[in-house]
Amino acid sequence: MLVKIRKPWDLPDNQVTDESTYWNRRKVLKSLGLTGTASLIGGCGLSVGGDPFGSLEDFDNPYASRFPYPRNEDFQVPERPLTDPFDATTYNNFYEFTRSKDSVHLLVGNFQIAPWQIEFAGLCNNPGVINLEDLLDQMDDITEERIYRFRCVERWAMTVPWTGFPLAALIALADPMAGANFVQMVSENRPDEMPNVDADANLPWPYFEGLTMEEAMNPLSMMVTGIYGQALPRQNGAPLRLIVPWKYGYKNIKSVIRIVFTEDQPPTFWNTIEPAEYSFLSNVDPDTPHPRWSQAEEWLLPGREPIPTMKYNGYGEFVADLYE
Ligand code: MTE
Repeated sequence: MLVKIRKPWDLPDNQVTDESTYWNRRKVLKSLGLTGTASLIGGCGLSVGGDPFGSLEDFDNPYASRFPYPRNEDFQVPERPLTDPFDATTYNNFYEFTRSKDSVHLLVGNFQIAPWQIEFAGLCNNPGVINLEDLLDQMDDITEERIYRFRCVERWAMTVPWTGFPLAALIALADPMAGANFVQMVSENRPDEMPNVDADANLPWPYFEGLTMEEAMNPLSMMVTGIYGQALPRQNGAPLRLIVPWKYGYKNIKSVIRIVFTEDQPPTFWNTIEPAEYSFLSNVDPDTPHPRWSQAEEWLLPGREPIPTMKYNGYGEFVADLYE
């Protein structure tokens, strides 16, 4: 993004937990009654402190007991391995906490993700706030896991099982008016809990993003509450984030608190900062280079194995008609 932080892409071997090790450790913890149990371990549990396994095993996540949900086998990524949970939860972009990708998970411990409310505003018939727990109850029957590709504009890529529900279902609750052509989303902004908000005061906080109404209603667009069958860790955008897998990573706004229906195209965070580099649509496109680098290939985490980038990140059958 704007500031180039030169970090080694490869994590040291001793920090990497492969998925089978991860699940075995989870099984052991489960047999001890230690998974998803807020009361057993106080404070921030293992989400803080750099434990490579603990960064996903989020003991004090208030939404943990809701998981897992069934997987929808229609959404798979057969040509790529699943990214190790360690990598997906310890290599993050969440500028409210830090610009250093491998430090986000160490800095999220004070971030309070419950209680949480979502506000509907702008051109809709049901403006107001809804408690997240009530929303999750309402969405329970249609909450499912889907494996999606994820492609950052910086070229790193992952394959992740997200749990969530269609954004279209959330929009239906708000009941947008006929003139609502766009959906803007806004992130939580708590300088007391997010150390980089004040430190990077020149950035236009809070983080905000937007979609056209057609994009938002597309069946691929998902409001995500979980990852790898568990409640979403704070560093990945708990308790509720957007996933639009045919767009570059920065469109996938985290920790959403406000959804605004607008007639005109709303501003977005990165487009406001650097309009020449980050467009409103930001669809993954190997043939349109970023002004500072080619987008023809991407690098799978953690080994940074280069592979060709696919138009719309491989989701053309779902979304190409939106742009004809
Ligand atoms: N949302 C908020 N609120 N703040 C951010 O800094 N970063 C974006 C996006 N959503 C960001 C955000 C970027 S640049 C990327 S690549 C993805 O989140 C990263 O998601 P991940 O950390 O779960 O991989």
